[in-house]
Amino acid sequence: MVFPSQDLLDDLAARLGPKGFTREAEAMTPWLSDWRGRFHGRAAALLSPADREEVAATVALCAAAGAALVPQGGNTSMVGGATPDPSGAALLLSMRRMNRIRTIDSAANLAVCEAGVILAHLHEAALAAGRRFPLTLGARGSATVGGLVSTNAGGTQVLRFGNMRRLVQGVEAVLPDGSLYQGLSPLKKDNRGYDLGQLLIGAEGTLGIVTAASLRLVPAVGERVVAWAGMETPQAAMRLLRHLETLVGDAIEGFELVPASALDLVLSHIPGTRPPLAGAHPWNALIEAVVPMAVASPEKALFEAFASALGTGIVADATIAVSEAQAEALWRLRDSISEAEKKDGPAAKHDISVAVADMPRFLVEAASAVEARFPGVRVNAFGHLGDGNIHFNVRAPAGRGADWLEQEGEEVTAFVHDLVTAAGGSISAEHGIGQMKLVEFARLGGATRLGALRAIKQALDPKGIMNPGKLVPLADFPSRP
Ligand code: FAD
Ligand code: MLT
Ligand code: ZN
Repeated sequence: MVFPSQDLLDDLAARLGPKGFTREAEAMTPWLSDWRGRFHGRAAALLSPADREEVAATVALCAAAGAALVPQGGNTSMVGGATPDPSGAALLLSMRRMNRIRTIDSAANLAVCEAGVILAHLHEAALAAGRRFPLTLGARGSATVGGLVSTNAGGTQVLRFGNMRRLVQGVEAVLPDGSLYQGLSPLKKDNRGYDLGQLLIGAEGTLGIVTAASLRLVPAVGERVVAWAGMETPQAAMRLLRHLETLVGDAIEGFELVPASALDLVLSHIPGTRPPLAGAHPWNALIEAVVPMAVASPEKALFEAFASALGTGIVADATIAVSEAQAEALWRLRDSISEAEKKDGPAAKHDISVAVADMPRFLVEAASAVEARFPGVRVNAFGHLGDGNIHFNVRAPAGRGADWLEQEGEEVTAFVHDLVTAAGGSISAEHGIGQMKLVEFARLGGATRLGALRAIKQALDPKGIMNPGKLVPLADFPSRP
């Protein structure tokens, strides 16, 4: 990687001004480590452009000099995707100043947002316009539109509305040569060949800088019902989901699996949380049903559906929130799992998917296999059961610190990923590859997929200046035997 010359730094400082350029350690340090505190990098400068013209000028200057850029939004990546390497040669490109919602068109059901718009702000703005942007996740107070697009983020409403790829209508981006791709057209049909916007979704900043996105909105929530159910097995949870869908249709938009271990972590580490049910259950599901207008009564329908599920023995106990405050308290139990797990200690994190119907059996068998192979570890498998996507995190044996991750983490991860691969699954269901999974992606990605990825990267970013060392393992990347 080329270290930026003093001339390049001077040019960038002049073009971006004092608000857009700094080399001060105090300003840079918070952004040089990832959310989980696993990756620590350095950068030659922190660049914060104010608009797309400044992004284009920045990229053009860096392209001419061959200097690397690491794009960053809210820095909530789970795979070290927005953390530069420790060499200090790269320039950190923060998109947080570009936080304008350009338009919200409730007739067209579209919002055009700059890349730095924080997800929670988009939620508020859409609501004020009588609409909703349905994708949501625990990091909504920090994660940005640019980061969500670039990771093809999922979250807790994918069941009904899909991940970012389904919610993005168009993308505006600066390509690695500094040119501006204007892909925000509202056209519903456009078949002019390869879809560059789709290529940028999930590209993790390796093919260009997303400067704005046009996002699909849906009708605002009319009535929502949030419930919590306890049961014996993940198989019962899957049966409950199908049972509820049969009775209340696609009103079910959130169905999150929470094992007793995850609930215990939240109750021990997150202040103000309380057990949702009178007794403890090995597995739980958090369920959200939504209808656009309060015409039907989803609460009654869901209540009846639960009553019949209790009758068939699928669930052992269940509660339905009777107020928004109670609904939010139930969601807090779910959304705080990662925070609680982080407070508790190190964990080898795996973001896996297998076919939806296979997940209940897979996760039970895989947890037994992992716990037998690595005595003392504790599997904490939670999340998006209805999407066949579980965060299959393996916590360090009690009393072990970060050294455990260094010493055993890689072996645990390879073991988990081999099980997933044998089951026809994916080692990255929603968080991306970043730097954390590069070795494993090189090992398991397959020659055809990796060859195509490298060819696309080479074609669009021949100088390799866009987020180097992330997502695309180079051909000579050291992969595990
Ligand atoms: P960053 O972390 O800053 O960057 C992520 C990647 O995108 C990096 O590779 C970066 O280089 C690139 N990037 C950022 N902005 C741009 C841009 N403008 N142009 C080009 N590249 C860019 N993820 C899920 O999918 N589902 C979940 O349920 C979920 N829950 C989470 C819960 C918690 C508590 C936390 C901390 C994270 C969670 N995540 C989840 C992961 C994370 O929030 C998402 O990946 C999110 O999309 C990242 O957004 P960000 O703005 O923080 O991006
Ligand atoms: C979540 O769904 O809460 C995050 O994606 C989880 C994580 O892996 O910590
Ligand atoms: Zn998730």
